[in-house]
Amino acid sequence: MKLEQKVQKAMNEQINKELFSSYLYLSMSAWCESEGYPGCAKWLGVQSTEENEHAIKILHFIHERGSRVELEAIEKPKAEFKNLASLFNQVLEHEQKVSASITSLYETAMKGNDYPSQIMLQWFITEQVEEEKNANEIVDLLKKVGDSPVSLMMFDRQLGARTGK
Ligand code: FEO
Repeated sequence: MKLEQKVQKAMNEQINKELFSSYLYLSMSAWCESEGYPGCAKWLGVQSTEENEHAIKILHFIHERGSRVELEAIEKPKAEFKNLASLFNQVLEHEQKVSASITSLYETAMKGNDYPSQIMLQWFITEQVEEEKNANEIVDLLKKVGDSPVSLMMFDRQLGARTGK
């Protein structure tokens, strides 16, 4: 069964949001790399790849439902950040926005009695809980780390241990 027009539109918008997330985290990763935080750059690079995978997941689902994918332009992400604490605060805020967007998409699918979309989106709801939790932990950790260069170096090394799923 094809997607309802409203759901198709919202899914296409979500693809754009996931691709923007990927682009934003890539930009953050580049900033970290040039500021001497290779571990954070790696963490954000893995995150950027995951966001791209999220977009592709939705794209395939739209096709599975015999509906149309329409890609829009991706907004230019920020390239400068005050410091690591500010950067990861922005990661958290961004993930909170994405969670709200997924919830709204789920509600649209629910109103249209679109059960397959709801089942597919449940994966994203679970994923958002995980992503917000991870970002929250990093923000909390950075509060403890403060400005000490040695602690920041250890923090960077810890984040660099991240591998893809
Ligand atoms: Fe795919 Fe982090 O939202």
